[in-house]
Amino acid sequence: MDKIAVAGTGYVGLVAGACFAEVGHQVTCVDIDENKVNTMKQGISPIYEDGLEELMQKNYAAGRIDYTTDYKSAYKDADAIFIGVGTPEQPDGSANLSYIATVARQIAESIEKDCLVVVKSTVPVGTNDKVEQFINDFLTNDVKVEVASNPEFLAQGSAVHDNLHADRVIIGTESKWAEELLKGIYAPFNLPIVSVNRRSAEMIKYASNDFLALKISYMNDIANLCELIGADVQDVARGMSFDERIGNKFLNAGIGYGGSCFPKDTKALENIATQNGYELKTVKAAIDINEDQKTKLYKKASKRLITFSGLKVAVLGLTFKPGTDDLREAPSLENVPLLLEQGADIYAYDPVGAENFAKVYPEGKNGRGSITYVSNIEHAIEDANVCFIFTEWGEVKAVTPKRYKELMRTPLVYDGRNIHDIKDMEKAEVEYYSVGRKPVTREAIKESKSVEL
Ligand code: UDX
Repeated sequence: MDKIAVAGTGYVGLVAGACFAEVGHQVTCVDIDENKVNTMKQGISPIYEDGLEELMQKNYAAGRIDYTTDYKSAYKDADAIFIGVGTPEQPDGSANLSYIATVARQIAESIEKDCLVVVKSTVPVGTNDKVEQFINDFLTNDVKVEVASNPEFLAQGSAVHDNLHADRVIIGTESKWAEELLKGIYAPFNLPIVSVNRRSAEMIKYASNDFLALKISYMNDIANLCELIGADVQDVARGMSFDERIGNKFLNAGIGYGGSCFPKDTKALENIATQNGYELKTVKAAIDINEDQKTKLYKKASKRLITFSGLKVAVLGLTFKPGTDDLREAPSLENVPLLLEQGADIYAYDPVGAENFAKVYPEGKNGRGSITYVSNIEHAIEDANVCFIFTEWGEVKAVTPKRYKELMRTPLVYDGRNIHDIKDMEKAEVEYYSVGRKPVTREAIKESKSVEL
């Protein structure tokens, strides 16, 4: 059992803290927000993440996890301090490291025994060297401090599971002492550990995330071509997926990737390359394709409808993916303002993301259009002139083609997640446009009806 402190209680920090407690370590999570700390002590998580509150409550009751704003008491005798604070993107695409620097300084001024500082936040290659130097420059006591890199690969919505059952744990260290200590902390998880030097560990994080972003953009690129040549991207992906070298994950074409990692990490790595006089062409392509992809369906719909002014527009799904209330870089944030500008009366449904979305676009009149949030999905599509699907929530997938036909004023659906079967939509006489697949046009519906007759 090690005494662990965790700086920052966002997705990375809080989930890591709860999982370390779960495997038996003694954990103190530090945050600057007093209210947040008090809420967490009551077992309430500031983020929506499956299974997290259960872990927090169980381990708090067992005395294995606590929360505090008093960083000094948490850091002074910790064996290891994990840093999980944010590294938000700056206007030039680089990562803002000011939160990390603040924590590093607090650590330097607090620790009273030898300690390993472990950076979990995603940081530009070389940052950990600087953090180590920075802490040593500000140390107030005569103790040994080393910095290790331990990038986080959790996906939102499955963060707890991803942490406890990670494919691998990457540890980047510069000494045997640091390597052994970190291996010891992870030993109870019983997971494969890849031990490399610090810079390689930092790079593994970017290279992995950007590869996945690239995979999605590649499929979106292929999808756009499929539309032009009459192929079906889902069939293409299925055919590709049997090749083990390609694998069967992250091949879904759609409305583009969002979230807190892919958009940020692609831009950050491109920035690192530029700083080093190198042009990272593949990652740049992934970014460009994604930007275009997010509004492709909107543009398609604009051509079909001429105007959105005065139309009831159903928007199904606001979050960047299902299973989270996170809206960061969500396609909805690009499309909703365009629709409002055009005077659309939006009826938006999202099982958990609506509250956050309403903070950005409050209910009611909004520019030339308006937005209404509904908790019943059928209220969104009832009498609608057009429907956009931005997130593949289970509830959205469950709407049958027949219901679109019955409820909508004009059954016209733009599906950014390819969740419906083309044949079923055609049969139900729903005009349907998705990504990289044959559209169900009005003409096609008329034709299939005349064939039936
Ligand atoms: C991602 C990585 O998966 C995780 O390892 C890393 O630590 C953080 O970034 P996350 O952003 O939570 O996690 O979600 P993920 O499930 O990876 O999806 C990211 C985006 O890609 C979503 O917008 C999703 O809709 C999109 N996506 C994913 C696709 O468009 N197609 C796919 O095939 C897969």
